[in-house]
Amino acid sequence: MQKSSGMRLERRDASPRISRVFKDKFKSAGELAEIAREMGRQGRRLVLTNGCFDLLHVGHVRYLQEARALGDALLVAVNGDASVRALKGPGRPVNGELDRAEVLAGLDCVDYVTIFEETRVSALIAAVRPQLYAKGGDYTLETLDPGERAALEAAGAGIRLLQLVPGRSTTATLARAAGQGEKKRMRLGVLGSGKGSNFRAIADAIRSGQLDAEVRVVISDVAEAGILELARERGIPAVHVSPGKYRTRLEPAAEAEVVRLLKEADVDWVVLAGYMRMVKAPLLEAFPRRIVNIHPSLLPEFPGLEAWAQAVASGSAVSGCTVHYVDSGMDTGEVIAQKTVPVHPGDTPATLHARIQEAEHVLYPAVLRQLAGG
Ligand code: GAR
Repeated sequence: MQKSSGMRLERRDASPRISRVFKDKFKSAGELAEIAREMGRQGRRLVLTNGCFDLLHVGHVRYLQEARALGDALLVAVNGDASVRALKGPGRPVNGELDRAEVLAGLDCVDYVTIFEETRVSALIAAVRPQLYAKGGDYTLETLDPGERAALEAAGAGIRLLQLVPGRSTTATLARAAGQGEKKRMRLGVLGSGKGSNFRAIADAIRSGQLDAEVRVVISDVAEAGILELARERGIPAVHVSPGKYRTRLEPAAEAEVVRLLKEADVDWVVLAGYMRMVKAPLLEAFPRRIVNIHPSLLPEFPGLEAWAQAVASGSAVSGCTVHYVDSGMDTGEVIAQKTVPVHPGDTPATLHARIQEAEHVLYPAVLRQLAGG
């Protein structure tokens, strides 16, 4: 049952100062169904998008303007407070549903707003039957919720996936705000298995004053990895921890040793830079929501090994890189920022990887700067 279906806004918030524009734009599901029907009769298109829109940022505004340009009117369905909690955790939303909806209504590109209670927007799609549905580009047609996709197909609605603005997210904004009170320099522990060009980009950003951080230790599962040599050249403690007998992760004793080294170095962020093993419980638990990784594709596309080769083999015209929080899955953690890179005709895996790496060297220091609070 949609909370907005029968309930008028006046009954939900009696505040006399509630903005006129909000009153005009706030609609129930029934009203929206009528609007969509009428627009359909006139050959016009109602575009629906949905989200939490907690702490509006420029990424939201650009995304909403693009969504509006796809049709003749834009409806924003705002996740109700309970569904934001279910999706984002107990600390969210920062702003209540009526406040979030009223802020959205203040944007010229937003024609209608409504609030829905479920974590998925399928029931509202079925009730309203918009002509188009727009969604942020961290989804693909395959990863769109099956229920939402089925509801869109049943309604005959088109689907458009829009690029998100790299580096702009409510999660990153909140992380910055949380860090500001402390004004402490970020203390990084870097884990890598390879040549270490991402580590070098981070170290260079620190040296040039663009990133207020310090790398306190570099750890590798590969004794001869270039990243250890680069760290030693910079006078940073560089330690090889033998991974043990597994191929895709560390043996528990090895991972415990990595945690010990990171704690001993008193790091507060763990940065995976070309680290080719999955991270498991002891490390994840020791640094909750403080482990980030860079991956050479636009996740959720091409997780796993040699993402650049997967991109070339797929024939895709665009790839890129992603910085994300690390969870126990393979490249499945929450995306913080992405940067796109074109795939040129005739690209080989090596030429594409080189181009992606150039983007990585810009994106990773920039994301760390955001997480550091500046
Ligand atoms: C980077 O391209 C990084 O994205 C990738 O390994 C390379 C390491 O290069 N990581 C992964 O594929 C993780 N799944 P680097 O050692 O020069 O930084």
